[in-house]
Amino acid sequence: MNAVRYCSRGGNTKLLAEAIAEALEVNASSIENKVENNVDTLFLGGALYAYGIDKELTEYIKNLDASKIKNVVVFSTSWISKHAIALIKKGLKEKNIPYVDEFIYARGKPSEKELAKAKEIAKKYR
Ligand SMILES: Cc1cc2nc3c(=O)[nH]c(=O)nc-3n(C[C@H](O)[C@H](O)[C@H](O)COP(=O)(O)O)c2cc1C
Repeated sequence: MNAVRYCSRGGNTKLLAEAIAEALEVNASSIENKVENNVDTLFLGGALYAYGIDKELTEYIKNLDASKIKNVVVFSTSWISKHAIALIKKGLKEKNIPYVDEFIYARGKPSEKELAKAKEIAKKYR
């Protein structure tokens, strides 16, 4: 079973999450919804707001149950840099939750091409 969780203030990361979820045939949820069951791959997305990820996303990662999550694929839509991906991975590392090097990225609002690429990557984990 795979799961998709996102933290999105403006909707860009949510769009990417929904494309990933469509490819996986699951629903994308915001981080308000905790992961209840065991997850093979958690797709976890966020963006940068003034150089940092949302505090709620930081808290969400801190509260993840490492025993339920086998693997994580990180995604982001930050404008300038992919730093959000590094920050999310740092939080995962602190929890000893495995993640793959591969990530899914769009710069701001995802284009059709970026959405298609996201789906292509997600399908590998079905
Ligand atoms: C208040 C604010 C601050 C931002 N700060 C940064 C930043 O420091 N670095 C960056 O790369 N992008 C920054 N961005 C761009 C967002 O990361 C980008 O628009 C992202 O797609 C937003 O995702 P969302 O629509 O899912 O909330 C900022 C956007 C906003 C609204």
